[in-house]
Amino acid sequence: MAHYPGWEAFQALSLEEKSKRFMRDGALFDIVYAQQFSKEYLFQLFSTAETIRTIAKTKQGCDFIATLLSDKRAMLFFVQPSTRTFLSFLSACHLLGMRTSEIRDVTTSSEVKGESPEDTIRTFSSYVDLIITRHPDEGFVEMAAWVLNEHANRAIPVINGGSGKDQHPTQALLDIYTLHRALEKLGGIEGKTIMMSGDLRRGRTVRSLCRLLALYNNVTIELVAPEKYRMRRDVVEWLKQKNVKVSETEDFDSALKQADAIYATRLQNEYDKEGEASSISERFYLTENHLPYLKEHAVIMHPFPRRDEIAVTLDHDPRAHYWKQARNGMWIRAALILTLFQRQHCLDQFPKL
Ligand code: NCD
Repeated sequence: MAHYPGWEAFQALSLEEKSKRFMRDGALFDIVYAQQFSKEYLFQLFSTAETIRTIAKTKQGCDFIATLLSDKRAMLFFVQPSTRTFLSFLSACHLLGMRTSEIRDVTTSSEVKGESPEDTIRTFSSYVDLIITRHPDEGFVEMAAWVLNEHANRAIPVINGGSGKDQHPTQALLDIYTLHRALEKLGGIEGKTIMMSGDLRRGRTVRSLCRLLALYNNVTIELVAPEKYRMRRDVVEWLKQKNVKVSETEDFDSALKQADAIYATRLQNEYDKEGEASSISERFYLTENHLPYLKEHAVIMHPFPRRDEIAVTLDHDPRAHYWKQARNGMWIRAALILTLFQRQHCLDQFPKL
């Protein structure tokens, strides 16, 4: 993809080696893959997110938080549709006092004049201190982080807000944070069965979430999808290598009964090939008819947007966590951004905690 020297050599590296290039002073700098996170890092983020949301309950607290990154500017380069990821990142930046600029359509940037994506990214880095980006090309975010680290005078952090069908690491953060909060009183995520259903082949959220669940002991992942939309083998094989128990089935109703958490996802038909008209059977539609089979504490989740995966009539059930999940995105993204700038400890300076 990249035309700058060194790209091929970088591409030949293992993910572990590549990840090392995305660190600075022993800390995460660019967030490109979910595999970059350790369990310790997650727990620190959860704690930072809890502190931010507690302080933000008052005007005095919000005014304080808005000083933490008031010297920083962020660029949101989102060239694939987004509602929640875009808005929760934007809100997180604003909460922290950052100023933001955005491009949501490449037709408004110089790429239409033939500028290379590398030059476009380097241009952004001339004006801002953080780039958050979503792109349909799977390798775009990796390239952006690489080009800034290797070739730019101002290397600034890059955060992956969704890379094609491959990864969505910050969605995985808010998903795992939601699970952590919901299961806290039940002994946490360890030992639990997490069911994922829908278009697992092309959904990037489930691919990234699997990587984070593998950090917990004794987790079982139930992948529930029609044959055509099964999880791709790279993730399944990786999970097995990590000793995660994985089962795959098309039997939605039976899987539901076992699940401590149900993570429903939609059909990703924007990736359909020409002439393909994909669909998912009604069997994968969670409705009030299923409620009697669910565990009493089952955590129902969805990354959104929702279509026919979860009936709106379930929204008031105490097990429905998807609206909380969407809001958790703002808190955990604020915690992540603050941590990337290594200012999370500044929260201790708030007088009334
Ligand atoms: C997801 C995405 O973009 O991958 N949405 C989101 O960020 N919350 C899920 C989806 O589009 O299905």
